[in-house]
Amino acid sequence: TDTPSTLLMIFGATGDLAKRKLYPSLFHLFNKGKISKDFAVIGVARREWTEEQFKKHVEDSVLTSIGTKENIDEFISHFYYQSHDVSDSESYITLKNLADSLDNKYNLHGNRIFYLAMAPEFFGTITDHLKSDGLTDTQGFHRLVIEKPFGHDLPSAEQLNNQIRESFTEDQIYRIDHYLGKEMVQNIEVIRFANALFEPLWNSRYISNIQVTSSEELGVEERGRYYEKSGALRDMVQNHMLQMVALLAMEPPIKLTTEEIRGEKVKVLRALRPLKDDEVKDYFVRGQYGPNETGGRGYRQEPNVDPNSNTETYVAGKLMIDNFRWAGVPIYIRTGKRMETKSTKIVIQFKDIPMNLYYNRDKPLAPNLLVIHIQPDEGITLHLNAKKSGQNVETTPVKLNFSNNSVDGMNTPEAYEKLLHDCMRGDATNFTHWDDVKLSWAYVDKISEVWETTKETEFPNYCAGTAGPKAADELLEKDGFYWWPID
Ligand code: BG6
Repeated sequence: TDTPSTLLMIFGATGDLAKRKLYPSLFHLFNKGKISKDFAVIGVARREWTEEQFKKHVEDSVLTSIGTKENIDEFISHFYYQSHDVSDSESYITLKNLADSLDNKYNLHGNRIFYLAMAPEFFGTITDHLKSDGLTDTQGFHRLVIEKPFGHDLPSAEQLNNQIRESFTEDQIYRIDHYLGKEMVQNIEVIRFANALFEPLWNSRYISNIQVTSSEELGVEERGRYYEKSGALRDMVQNHMLQMVALLAMEPPIKLTTEEIRGEKVKVLRALRPLKDDEVKDYFVRGQYGPNETGGRGYRQEPNVDPNSNTETYVAGKLMIDNFRWAGVPIYIRTGKRMETKSTKIVIQFKDIPMNLYYNRDKPLAPNLLVIHIQPDEGITLHLNAKKSGQNVETTPVKLNFSNNSVDGMNTPEAYEKLLHDCMRGDATNFTHWDDVKLSWAYVDKISEVWETTKETEFPNYCAGTAGPKAADELLEKDGFYWWPID
């Protein structure tokens, strides 16, 4: 195994994320021999659970998501539980004592990971206490893992960051963006920088536009209270969508180190053309789902949602990156809830060739496309033109397909598995740096500002289970493009 011994403390251990993602991921890592046998996990949460209850909970979560019992008892024997009050020093001292004793028992060298899998309002309080109550007073490494949302806008993110930085340095902080743990998101760099076929064409001379789509079938489910204050812009664009754009647009790093890669990504975000108030409507479209004919609820009818809500459940936008490589190339993004399908895809559309010898008025030559399928399918498709067999000069579109699923099958690790493993190894490449967070907020804050002051009178403007508002199509039509179908 390539991971050092570690004590992992999970705050929010009885919550949904821990149950759905963290325990199953840890179990996978354990069974693959990817974590050191010297490890212990302390589940920390408010509920007065016994250790037995907690162990049962972890076991259930593993069985529900994986359905295998192999080694489960040994796995579970590494788990401990501490009922906790986040604002009470006493609680932290009890926790510290337990941590110190596990340190001895498992020979953990004082290595500690604090994973905050809980409501963000407590992040600052917890980090303050971790330091002041001595939980970070050990030899060994101390790492803090935080889930989104990292703030609500730039000022709140800054305030949160300043507070956390009182107790942890930037290189001890691992901000999760689970899209960066996805296999095919990690593949963007490889496709770009390991192929002579793409790298020379990856610029404004050969690419006409890029389209990044992340659509979901689900609505807001039980998360109305959170989502009302967030909306699709903060929930998806500020983090996942902009991170994918950064990977697509960055310059080749001089080497594959965390610092070099992060440095190149940040430059993309710095080059994003900022919007002025009156430009927001020309560059960004918002949508909200309404009820549909088959009885699907509208957003305004969801639990904990204002019946007159102005919150967007869909965003489409056009980003311009003002640098040498991308001058004039629009990058379109869209994301929404209650769409037709669950799908995340990136389409790179290449420019037409300078002269079309096969011009046919009834059937124009299709442009070359490179499609990167992020999920649920994983793979790439290259759209080319070839000769139609038998005919003289007729062309026909052909597709070259690579499906990652068929190679790695069910073994493709989940995003959280990879990210947990990275954190244990001390590799922060696939986590977001404060500079990314800051620049992303600065960019989307302008949009939310304008949207908050101008109520959208057309809401709801797409039916649940459909392709989103018409205005999103017009956004591309203005530029002479259209969204490539996502299937
Ligand atoms: C989360 C958002 O960050 O990403 C959710 O808060 C969204 O609203 C989810 O559903 C989408 O993730 P995935 O991996 O299912 O595409």
